Amino acid sequence: MTTTTDIQDLESRVMFQTGRRAPVTLVRGEGTRVWDTDGKEYLDFVAGIAVVSLGHAHPVLVEAIAKQAEQLIHVSNLFYSVPQVQLAELLVQVSCLDRVYFQNSGAEALEACIKLARKWGHEKKDGADEIISAQSGFHGRTLAAINASGTPRYKEPFGLLPGFVNVPFDDVEAIKAATTPKTCAILLEPIQGEGGVNIPAEDYLQKVRAWCDEQDILLVLDEVQTGIARTGTMFAYEQYGVCPDIMALAKGLAGGVPIGAILAKEEIAAMFVPGDHGSTFSGNPLATAAGYAVLKHIVDNDLAAEVKRKGEQLQAKLRSLEDRHGTISEVRGRGLLCAVQFDADIAEQVARESLGEGLLLNNLRPNVLRIAPPLTVSDEEIDEAVERLERVLVKIGK
Ligand SMILES: Cc1ncc(COP(=O)(O)O)c(C=O)c1O
Repeated sequence: MTTTTDIQDLESRVMFQTGRRAPVTLVRGEGTRVWDTDGKEYLDFVAGIAVVSLGHAHPVLVEAIAKQAEQLIHVSNLFYSVPQVQLAELLVQVSCLDRVYFQNSGAEALEACIKLARKWGHEKKDGADEIISAQSGFHGRTLAAINASGTPRYKEPFGLLPGFVNVPFDDVEAIKAATTPKTCAILLEPIQGEGGVNIPAEDYLQKVRAWCDEQDILLVLDEVQTGIARTGTMFAYEQYGVCPDIMALAKGLAGGVPIGAILAKEEIAAMFVPGDHGSTFSGNPLATAAGYAVLKHIVDNDLAAEVKRKGEQLQAKLRSLEDRHGTISEVRGRGLLCAVQFDADIAEQVARESLGEGLLLNNLRPNVLRIAPPLTVSDEEIDEAVERLERVLVKIGK
């Protein structure tokens, strides 16, 4: 069973059909490049949906995983383990927050944020349990996370939960109007990822932070996609001059090994007392050894600054493409989280045709491509990817 047709056939018979996949079976990766079952090479500008931060098979990560696997993979939180507390210490050092609890995914981290905010409301704000979040925001696929997310299609078939209010993104007045004495938290992505790489006004988060302080409401930032240097600073909140009360992380933290984390200020973290929260796999030695290796590498090599520089290069290249191809209506992004918007719904066609040119891209919206290569992408690979994308636009007559 080595051809994509064989794999597609088997997958269609044995797996839940929950999404559409590109007709490619990937078997190997190195740096920014991946190879399929036919040996065809692709430049990976999806990076496992902004996850593979150090690129594929980075020696630092491979060595950390192999060493930890030989030593100890899992013990549960009934005992202490070394990589878990090391990664927590490093996260506390590089963030504005005080304490960490590990999770296994982004959605789970958001679930924990929602629980923690509600426990705070229960203890400190007369039982306040409402959470205001943004339309076209995305926080994952668990039941609470879909209720906080801003896409009706993701939640309506599953039964709406009380206590979630959606308002337009980048609109402080809408948050103010939706606030009631029952509001315990405002939950936002600093830059909306799945919603289309939507960047708010420079002062939006500061105004939200000020409103939270005035009203005694928690600010919860979902940095699952924007965190861990993806947007050119370790966390996107740094670019907006705010510190959240609670933050969720996942995706790029362990470079591809599943992990999530919730961080909080000391007095908020104290709301969780023994018995309130837990998870069998949470912070297991394998995942946290991977996370520690990735984060330490990013910090030691100041990859955030590199991401900022490369992001500017990528956007400049994409803008020159925009000058030559009228179908591109906007290029936007921060660091290596970028989007190309078209004047028509051609993103799926472009992503599909890009496969032929050896380029992996993600059609995020019908008219928007997301471009999110590994943080370690080289200048030459950026140039090469944009050249390949231009060949696709020429080929489809755009
Ligand atoms: C901002 C944000 N939050 C949460 C999630 C959910 O993460 P996961 O898919 O790991 O559950 C995602 C995933 O795309 C995300 O982009």
